[in-house]
Amino acid sequence: MVKKVRHLLTLADLSAAEMERIFSIAEDLKSKWAKGIREPLLPGRVMALLFEKPSLRTRVSFEACMAHLGGSSLFLGQETGFGTRETMADFARVLSQYVDVIVARTYRHQTVVELAQYAQCPVINGLSDLAHPCQALADLFTIRELFGRLRGLTLAWIGDGNNVARSLARGCGKLGIRMVMATPPPYRFDEAFLEELRRDAPEFELVVTDDPVEAVQDAAVIYTDVWTSMGQEAEAAQRRRIFAPYQVNAALMAHAQKGAVFMHCMPAHRGEEVTDEVIDGPQSVVIQQAANRMHLQKGLLAWLLAAQN
Ligand code: CP
Ligand code: NVA
Repeated sequence: MVKKVRHLLTLADLSAAEMERIFSIAEDLKSKWAKGIREPLLPGRVMALLFEKPSLRTRVSFEACMAHLGGSSLFLGQETGFGTRETMADFARVLSQYVDVIVARTYRHQTVVELAQYAQCPVINGLSDLAHPCQALADLFTIRELFGRLRGLTLAWIGDGNNVARSLARGCGKLGIRMVMATPPPYRFDEAFLEELRRDAPEFELVVTDDPVEAVQDAAVIYTDVWTSMGQEAEAAQRRRIFAPYQVNAALMAHAQKGAVFMHCMPAHRGEEVTDEVIDGPQSVVIQQAANRMHLQKGLLAWLLAAQN
């Protein structure tokens, strides 16, 4: 019998119970790591990283994870001819003969979908124009760590309804977090995505407003991301104008509850979507968030690769 390969292209690929399982493996590995124990759960395993866009957090955290788990990684640049030298099908079928898992960061989401269609090993989306599932999983892990729970909390998303927002919405929907989005109309989720969200998480409470103050009032977490994502640079001036009222600054944070935290997936465009005083301020948890990319992905790799055996 041919075993079905599991992929993580969006958080639609994981159930709530599977996310909880990944959190608990990550939590265990994080506490061991803090005691100096790096459990080699994946000896000899090889991970390929295929990146069409720059990265600090995703690339380095995945490479560090694999090293801690006793495996190794290959960062593959243009010389493999990814997307140009042969068909995606040939590329994916061949690469997956050599490696146990592929992490891909692409412009078009369809590229990771095609890789997964042909690869005979798991493919993890390390960010596409549509989704950033590893970021959202790590952020939910951070929120759980900070508040001791997820269900019943409110997350305010301020700004562009982009890849990170979509993945957080899927995760929040499945894990019982309410989401309030302050987003200008042309940058909100489209109807097709809202329909998928409703199907995937019928109980999800998603409120959409154009008032950032309304969004932050009841929130435990205030989250923003860049106004111009990688690949959208030609729209930067227009986006700066449209998103200017959505800046997360001290005046906006003054409307938040005491105890609310500020989150950002980074890299930040300081002075645009967030001011220095907020991202460097006492409510900011952005460094813990970035650190947890590594811990969470360790749980993800251990879970995903164990499931392949
Ligand atoms: N947050 C995130 O994915 O960062 P990188 O672009 O540095 O990987
Ligand atoms: N939305 C941003 C996230 C970067 C981690 C981008 O796609 O560039």
